[in-house]
Amino acid sequence: MSKLVLKNIGKSYGAFDAVKDFSLELQKGEFVSLLGPSGCGKTTTLRMIAGFMPPTAGTIELDGQVISSPAGVVPPENRRMSMIFQSYAIWPNMTVGQNVGFGLEVRKVSRAETERRVDKILEVVQMRGLKDRYPSELSGGQQQRVALARAIVVEPEILLLDEPLSNLDANLREEMRFEIRRLHDEFKITTVYVTHDQSEAMVTSDRIVVMNKGRMEQVDAPHVLYGKPRSRFVAGFIGRTNFVESDGATYSLRPQAIGLSAAKPAMHGVEADVVDRAYLGEYWDYQVKPLGETKPLRVSTAPTTIFELGQRVWLEIDPAAMVRVE
Ligand SMILES: Nc1ncnc2c1ncn2[C@@H]1O[C@H](COP(=O)(O)OP(=O)(O)OP(=O)(O)O)[C@@H](O)[C@H]1O
Ligand SMILES: [Mg+2]
Repeated sequence: MSKLVLKNIGKSYGAFDAVKDFSLELQKGEFVSLLGPSGCGKTTTLRMIAGFMPPTAGTIELDGQVISSPAGVVPPENRRMSMIFQSYAIWPNMTVGQNVGFGLEVRKVSRAETERRVDKILEVVQMRGLKDRYPSELSGGQQQRVALARAIVVEPEILLLDEPLSNLDANLREEMRFEIRRLHDEFKITTVYVTHDQSEAMVTSDRIVVMNKGRMEQVDAPHVLYGKPRSRFVAGFIGRTNFVESDGATYSLRPQAIGLSAAKPAMHGVEADVVDRAYLGEYWDYQVKPLGETKPLRVSTAPTTIFELGQRVWLEIDPAAMVRVE
């Protein structure tokens, strides 16, 4: 039996559909991300799962029991779910240890057991030494770890995270992605993770739901979304790509799937000019215009593969790398 089942969930405000016809089944222990641009309905979906908001259509089931429908919802406090909000906050007047232990206290767990579980989870998030500090004495990443520890320590059936890394700088955000996945591998809590950052979703998730304007565009494992995007929207949102029109159909062609050389290749060669380029350290990002075409293609190459602006080059395109999109 699936752990969490969303059946044709919808949320409308008057004539506006914030979420429409959204269906998803999570297996126990699965980590699924909701990924999409601002305003596409991610937080709305998460709040419906948490029970803060009834859906205007559809049902949500946990372990086979209906917990949400337009007729009513099981309130958040009776759901055995933990949620970290988009603008997460840890209580400033409590120490790290008190913040993490609070949920257990509320659940009437004994003092000794609370102490044991708080120490264990602080060990896991590498915050044991900072147990008596106050939030104002912590860095952003450390506060984030406290928020995660507080959500996990109560051993929820479902963990709901709404852009939990959005307050952190780029380096810390990257580090915390791996941290979140490590915590997941350790505790195996069924998790729904909301983000608008594709790399974050790819690092953390078993499957990603790509959302656009309240609707689900595609649900797949990260490598499938990248390799076999079904729509233009998904192809453009997951990684960089070129759209190529041929015989009335549109194809997605990744910049690194195009070969670039100074000499004519044996097969499928297309002559082109280098019209722009940028060096990104890890790769070159070239814009090349096939002769007679108006639209340049993006091509990435190894950092050691250098072509000058205006240089005549040959493109090598493997037809198998062209993925047809809607
Ligand atoms: N109370 C409301 N009344 C009308 N529209 C609303 C209301 N609350 C949210 N919306 C709209 O619903 C849509 C989805 O909002 P939601 O907060 O779910 O987006 P999101 O995907 O989480 O975006 P972000 O990445 O910016 O957090 C938005 O267009 C928003 O303006
Ligand atoms: Mg949001």
